[in-house]
Amino acid sequence: MANLYIGLISGTSMDGIDAVVARFDESGAKLHATLSHPYPSPLRTDLVHAVSNPSDCSVDEIGLLDGWVGECFRDAALAVMEEAGVSADGIEAIGSHGQTIRHQPDAVRPFSMQIGDPSIIAQGTGVATVADFRRADIAAGGQGAPLTPPFHRWLFGTTGKNRVVLNIGGIANVTILGAGDAAVTGFDTGPGNTLLDRWTAKHRQEPFDRGGAWAAKGTVVEELLEKLLSFDYFERQPPKSTGLEDFNLEWLTDRDVLDYEPRDVQATLCELTAQTIADDIKRYAPETRELFVCGGGAHNAELLRRLARNLPETVVETTAVAGLDPDWVEAAAFAWLAMRRMKNQPGNLPSVTGASRKVMLGAIHSP
Ligand SMILES: Nc1ncnc2c1ncn2[C@@H]1O[C@H](COP(=O)(O)OP(=O)(O)O)[C@@H](O)[C@H]1O
Ligand SMILES: [Mg+2]
Repeated sequence: MANLYIGLISGTSMDGIDAVVARFDESGAKLHATLSHPYPSPLRTDLVHAVSNPSDCSVDEIGLLDGWVGECFRDAALAVMEEAGVSADGIEAIGSHGQTIRHQPDAVRPFSMQIGDPSIIAQGTGVATVADFRRADIAAGGQGAPLTPPFHRWLFGTTGKNRVVLNIGGIANVTILGAGDAAVTGFDTGPGNTLLDRWTAKHRQEPFDRGGAWAAKGTVVEELLEKLLSFDYFERQPPKSTGLEDFNLEWLTDRDVLDYEPRDVQATLCELTAQTIADDIKRYAPETRELFVCGGGAHNAELLRRLARNLPETVVETTAVAGLDPDWVEAAAFAWLAMRRMKNQPGNLPSVTGASRKVMLGAIHSP
């Protein structure tokens, strides 16, 4: 069975590595195996610490984490190959996004750092591994993010439909697929699950608010919502991208959230997330009639309910209606980007990232 690619990603939620074995042809994307490979809990703790306290993270620590994350990605690749019943000979390449520990696209010397040593993955699996997808786009003047819109366009960009694809990971990003010839755009709207997760972890000792049930019990605090909405990122014009550097517990405590009932804060954060996404869609894609949601946030019923309420003229569905399970869209995108790289085809969309030109994304690490 030829033409199989593996996609690996751990997003900003750091809830674990998503792994897929996928094949792409004229009829779309077919997933041959999928799995979610958790990080060992001490590694996750160290990663969260490194991301939250960058100035307190030594080169030695980053080196150690790079290797440790690489081993986990290798193991995720081996596990998904076993699940699919294929050996290294049957896989064309692995596309490994790695784990972002820092994303600074607007710095004087911009960079975006993903760790998870690709040589460990290539040598441990025997499969060529494409990694470091963001650097070339940044070198060409782009944000290095988001990178999934070209895949969204390829898969969901049926002409004649005003569609938006919304990925709700730790951060939320949209891909605007206008009808006709309008250039595809896409950008990070701001928080996805991250504020909801952090607030839930702080008050309920659980990693996330299942189904948004806790948020659904609270009442939105309007004055707090106004304060949160006045953050300048929400006013910025695309291209723009963000990360946990901008949206974290400190961001919340700086805005006096501790003054309110925790579950009302959760309801407010849920509304903030829904409203910032909906406002951007209304501003930059007012003709949108179909919204396809993917990422873990697709399981948050309260968030989807608030989204639909803020977008009365849009049908809110998950990517499942268009044939791809919302849990695996991002991992499939990196398998697809690896395919592009192996075929020496460009992977970025300058209309999305702001890069000066199309470039090939990622470096190939031979086994
Ligand atoms: N059943 C659920 N109910 C509510 N939220 C969920 C559920 N399942 C997953 N999530 C949310 O999705 C997040 C993981 O989403 P994911 O797309 O993997 O994000 P990332 O790309 O940042 O890793 C979790 O941290 C959680 O907030
Ligand atoms: Mg994840």
